[in-house]
Amino acid sequence: MIVADDYTHLSQLAADHIGRLVKEDPQMLLCAATGGTPTGAYERLAEGSTELFAQMRILKLDEWCGIPGTQDGSCDHYLSRHLLEPLKVTPDRYFRADGDAKDLQAECARMSEALRAEGPIGLCVLGLGMNGHLGFNEPGDRMVPHWHVVELTDSSLAHPMIQGSGASITLGVTTGMQDILDSRQALLLVSGGHKSEAMKRFLTKRVTPQFPASYLWEHPNLTVICDRDAVPSD
Ligand code: F6R
Repeated sequence: MIVADDYTHLSQLAADHIGRLVKEDPQMLLCAATGGTPTGAYERLAEGSTELFAQMRILKLDEWCGIPGTQDGSCDHYLSRHLLEPLKVTPDRYFRADGDAKDLQAECARMSEALRAEGPIGLCVLGLGMNGHLGFNEPGDRMVPHWHVVELTDSSLAHPMIQGSGASITLGVTTGMQDILDSRQALLLVSGGHKSEAMKRFLTKRVTPQFPASYLWEHPNLTVICDRDAVPSD
């Protein structure tokens, strides 16, 4: 676990970490979270030459359902803006669930198949949900191993990304917990004082489906980069 001075420092450390792994494996499948936390790291990646990313493949970690991929607020729209366009990732190297699909179960089955064909994930970049969610793996009685449809909790539905989108969202689709644990490397990014309570729970290392991020303690190659504000004071 690395404690960065602040968000700028966290973003640089995360971008360096991602860049290093892509150098080692240029065709790497990068599973990418959206949201506020990884944005700075993605921006740093986009500042350099795009040559390094000419073969890298990207898997979208999750998606809101009921919001078109072209619309601001969707994870597709976010990744297009922050990763795909700046890094010139061609459509054949981008793997995405359509959150607007008519048959969401079939869409998840298709994504599980895509992951079997393209996997394993080389690096999974993750953010920490306020309620401990990872991707859209929500707290519950058990974790779902592979791609699945999720009924989102109120906490997730309060995520800033979709506020003002005007969409009526109740469901999400997400990479499953086993898919995340099967990645070669996992990188959890945590920033800000509003995450310190969730961080406190994470740091107890008690693995429970009530706090999905705790499963990362079972990952063989986990790196956590948080900033000082996110570190619990007690
Ligand atoms: C988004 C995702 C979510 C976020 C989490 C933290 O693709 O997978 O699990 O990573 O909600 O979001 P931020 O970074 O906005 O605090």
